Amino acid sequence: MIHITSSFVSLLAFVSIAAAQSAVWGQCGGIGWTGPTTCVAGSTCVESNAYYSQCLPSTSTSSGTGSTGTSTAALPTSTSTAKSNTVAQAAGKKYFGSATDNPEFTDAAYLAILSDNTYFGQITPGNSMKWDATEPEQGTFTFSGGDAVVSLAQGNSQLVRGHNCVWYNQLPSWVTSGSWTNATLTAAVQNHCSTLVSHYKGDIYSWDIINEPFNDDGTWRSDVFYNTMGTYFVDVALIAARAADPNAKLYINDYNIEGTGAKATAMMNLVSNLKSRGIPIDGIGLQGHFIVGEVPTTIQTVMEQFVALGVEVAITELDIRMTLPETDALLEQQKTDYQNVITACNAVAGCVGVTIWDYTDKYSWVPSTFSGQGAACPWDANLIKKPAYDGIIAGFSA
Ligand SMILES: *[C@@H]1O[C@H](CO)[C@@H](O)[C@H](O)[C@H]1NC(C)=O
Repeated sequence: MIHITSSFVSLLAFVSIAAAQSAVWGQCGGIGWTGPTTCVAGSTCVESNAYYSQCLPSTSTSSGTGSTGTSTAALPTSTSTAKSNTVAQAAGKKYFGSATDNPEFTDAAYLAILSDNTYFGQITPGNSMKWDATEPEQGTFTFSGGDAVVSLAQGNSQLVRGHNCVWYNQLPSWVTSGSWTNATLTAAVQNHCSTLVSHYKGDIYSWDIINEPFNDDGTWRSDVFYNTMGTYFVDVALIAARAADPNAKLYINDYNIEGTGAKATAMMNLVSNLKSRGIPIDGIGLQGHFIVGEVPTTIQTVMEQFVALGVEVAITELDIRMTLPETDALLEQQKTDYQNVITACNAVAGCVGVTIWDYTDKYSWVPSTFSGQGAACPWDANLIKKPAYDGIIAGFSA
């Protein structure tokens, strides 16, 4: 920590005496930029996008391990010129996509990349379609946040994944603290899913109708829905959603089902059970919140097993986090990990697409959720593509 602090301070001092030129890693151009457009010796101004050019080291001067924590070590970046959604579609997938969130839309540089449909053919609202955002009081619906995401996607000719209808988390207190009977909660779930999915009828490629229903050991999660209704809440939500938008693909979405094990088996049993009773189910979302070096090796097998049950699959929330600081070796392993996940989807015809859980480390949920971890996304916090991006391209090109 002391290293990081002192080099940060000396970098600030350096910037202040050399204001006519941008420092290494500093901005040197882009729409609206009024600062210096030349870089200090040893670095070159490189355009990242129309809104952001950055001084990058002219030659690779990586410290190798990066373990000293210096802020000026040149970490490796992407070299691919191919576009992620273009290669995904060329491989026969419906999309390569990204999650996003409404507050990020004020960031012009971020929005420019998100809106480039050669990079992203699909977007998922991270928060603005969740229950607390859409029905904060019982029977009072607010769709403005979700509407903004849909409107952005339509302007960009991008698909939308709706996220989500029934989840134990981010619930308004009237749901979590209500005194429910099976009958009254059934009516509330029915009304919520029906109203939400109807509002977006025709706008949504696929909906995560049920999110995270299982514990890691494959038992049902104890929450207000399961505790009050038993597994009947799954039927109620799926049936209401099908009636509300017959053309939307209805998904159940969960994590730790990407490799073989008790939780994946529980999800397969649920799919079989729903199918046998004629309850609508079209897809399973494998979230894909992974750790560098720990991506399950059985992803393709699991996908094939789901597809054999008569559903499609998608990677819906991919990110691959590491313990900070980033190093050359970690970024290289992360590239391999991204490539392996994409390769698995690419090898399974029933895997329709991959969504990353926001494309840039600037807006990743990881650092605030997992202390000391981060750098999980394919674009860094300065919106520069990392080696992980080349892994994505390679996976779709295999
Ligand atoms: C809730 O009601 C439904 C419909 O009658 C029933 O199938 C289900 O078993 C009930 N759940 C519980 C926990 O009683």
